[in-house]
Amino acid sequence: MQFVCQNCGYVSLKWLGKCPSCGEWNTFVEEIVSKKREEKEFKKPIPLSLSKKESDIRIKFGFPEIDRIFGGGMVKGGYYLLGGEPGIGKSTLLLQIGNILAEKGYKILYVSGEESYSQIKMRAERLNINSENIFLMCENEVEGIKEGIREIKPDIVIIDSIQTIYSQDFASSPGSITQIRECGEKLLRLTKENEIITFVIGHVTKTGEIAGPKALEHMVDAVFYLEGEETGNFRILRSVKNRFGNINEIGIFEMTDKGLKEVKEIEMFFLNKDFETPGSAVVSVVQGSRIVFVEVQSLVTKTFFPLPKREVGGFDIRRLSLLIAVMEKRLGVPFYKYDVYLNVTGGIKIFETSCDLGVCVSLLSSMKNIKISKENLFIGEVGLGGEIRPVNLINLRIKEAQRKGFKRCFIPDQEIDNLNIEIFKIKKIEEIMEILK
Ligand code: TYD
Ligand code: MG
Repeated sequence: MQFVCQNCGYVSLKWLGKCPSCGEWNTFVEEIVSKKREEKEFKKPIPLSLSKKESDIRIKFGFPEIDRIFGGGMVKGGYYLLGGEPGIGKSTLLLQIGNILAEKGYKILYVSGEESYSQIKMRAERLNINSENIFLMCENEVEGIKEGIREIKPDIVIIDSIQTIYSQDFASSPGSITQIRECGEKLLRLTKENEIITFVIGHVTKTGEIAGPKALEHMVDAVFYLEGEETGNFRILRSVKNRFGNINEIGIFEMTDKGLKEVKEIEMFFLNKDFETPGSAVVSVVQGSRIVFVEVQSLVTKTFFPLPKREVGGFDIRRLSLLIAVMEKRLGVPFYKYDVYLNVTGGIKIFETSCDLGVCVSLLSSMKNIKISKENLFIGEVGLGGEIRPVNLINLRIKEAQRKGFKRCFIPDQEIDNLNIEIFKIKKIEEIMEILK
């Protein structure tokens, strides 16, 4: 008998009101644990030179965007997790992905613990999917899934969703952290022993974590999130962990009446080039193996509050305060008299300091009501002394900017390759004022 925090998995022998590990209240639930040892054959050591090559175990989709997100295709024996809020399109995406592979002759087992055969069939009809290679199974018990795998011998198993799967070996209810962890582990074993690809769907709670979160993330090979704005039709699929590829790789999909469609050329997807307004500046962010251009928009208005407002979307608020402080000190601009709203368009979140320069330009451009051309790209980290510091992958950023038709790049004073695009090197933040004339 033990008590387990449903938020982080912390185990305690007595009930606690507040979790000492994650600080959440009222998250402890009593769970019964019992484990029997299973009889099994152990694996034999083999020489590295005899193990399979990447080309033997990678399955390519043949859709460049999807292949890229998966690091060049899926890997046999790979254990994948797809997280996302309810209704975002997880079941749709995996049924479509399953279908691409089914058409290539792979066998798919789609296990649903939350929908009936006819519900899945309805979705499939809408997506125009009707493959003999896709097998449906509405089953909640992990032992039943094991039977299904033994019978069908699939190449790919899709579990929709982990929160609805349980094992009779454990007394707690489906969705509890013990069930998620133990069923997750049973599925892991099934995946590796049978060399199948398993894709597990996990619902995400409002705080952005999969319920029973850490319990699964460490055991799977790759974690993907499907995100999107509630009202919009666009969805971003992002890799946050991948043992077989890049992390932070993104792909964009549009939700249509016939399911998700991939958006190509996403580098410029987040920009609206025709609309120029004061407060907008273009920056570059690294997303996996790609450079993507996004727009930083700000609105700087006279404040009516004793403490001016600072609000951000997609940017770190402390970083914003820091940049504002640097500008107040170095440029003597009285930001303390202004409210500042800063937003990164398209739902991208910026974690890179290489966008500092663009953020500063955007803020000053709004304050001074001066438009900045969207043919300008701003790259550079801003130091506390107002110096513009070098950034990583500078050549890649400039090269991509050139390819996408930007006219000018404002960059730190660092060595770069000889490229055919106008370059302005900026050493100190004071020089921004020149741009804004
Ligand atoms: P779904 O895949 O069921 O979401 P999840 O598994 O993440 O909960 O899809 C949810 C929404 O997508 C649903 O509101 C209907 C919409 N949708 C479309 O717009 N077009 C389609 O072709 C399909 C199948 C669904
Ligand atoms: Mg679903």
